[in-house]
Amino acid sequence: MSQLPHHVAIVMDGNGRWATKRFLPRIAGHKQGVDSLSRCVKACLERGIAVLTVFAFSSENWNRPSEEVSGLMDLLVFALAREVPTLNAQGVQLHFVGDRQRLSGKVQDGLAQAELGTSNNQRLIFNVCFNYGGRWDIAQAAQKLASRGEVITEQSLDRAMALAHVPDPDLLIRTGGELRISNFLLWQAAYSELHFSDKLWPEFDEAALDEAIAVFRARERRFGQTSAQLGGQNHRHKEKVA
Ligand code: FPP
Repeated sequence: MSQLPHHVAIVMDGNGRWATKRFLPRIAGHKQGVDSLSRCVKACLERGIAVLTVFAFSSENWNRPSEEVSGLMDLLVFALAREVPTLNAQGVQLHFVGDRQRLSGKVQDGLAQAELGTSNNQRLIFNVCFNYGGRWDIAQAAQKLASRGEVITEQSLDRAMALAHVPDPDLLIRTGGELRISNFLLWQAAYSELHFSDKLWPEFDEAALDEAIAVFRARERRFGQTSAQLGGQNHRHKEKVA
């Protein structure tokens, strides 16, 4: 395959271990994770990737020690204040994906402002999954359809999902050496190529991204067809992809 992935999704794992190895509090690892994320956005822009989706806070992360949960909330507000002007200058359109109801008013306002302030940008769609879970997304989509009395089909569910504004991810990367999906993009990752990196997220740099892209390009995506049917060509998937 020679195509660049249109949509890259990342489970940014390993912040806590990065900090613990340095005798630092876990939140120091998350702060370093924000810097790594800024570098990753820049690298995606430079490489011409159109959509980046990252897992920043899962529905299950509420079970972490309360100081880590509040630290992550504060970090989100801080990161938005620091990064949104740069994201705007870079042409990045921000979306927050997840259940906002449990977030504080301050965090909810921050998310809404950041989305509004970047809504006209066109170079990169950047989805930050926050208080997100793949099962939550499927359930909320089904509830939406049921409340409107709509028939539930693959297509109608697809349109009701929280990531309906982008095509499915082509490449799903998980850092930190774990070989799990952990409730990320359960619906949308049906045909994503998976890449697992041993690097901890704060250490995931441009070279590591390039390696993941190179591995992706070397794969043959068949979407249920045979290799002979594809004639050595890889085809862009599904009707959502232009
Ligand atoms: C997983 O590492 C990472 C998270 C739960 C948070 C990811 C957040 C960032 C990269 C920062 C960006 C986020 C905001 C709020 C803007 P882990 O803590 O599970 O690492 P471990 O497996 O080493 O413990």
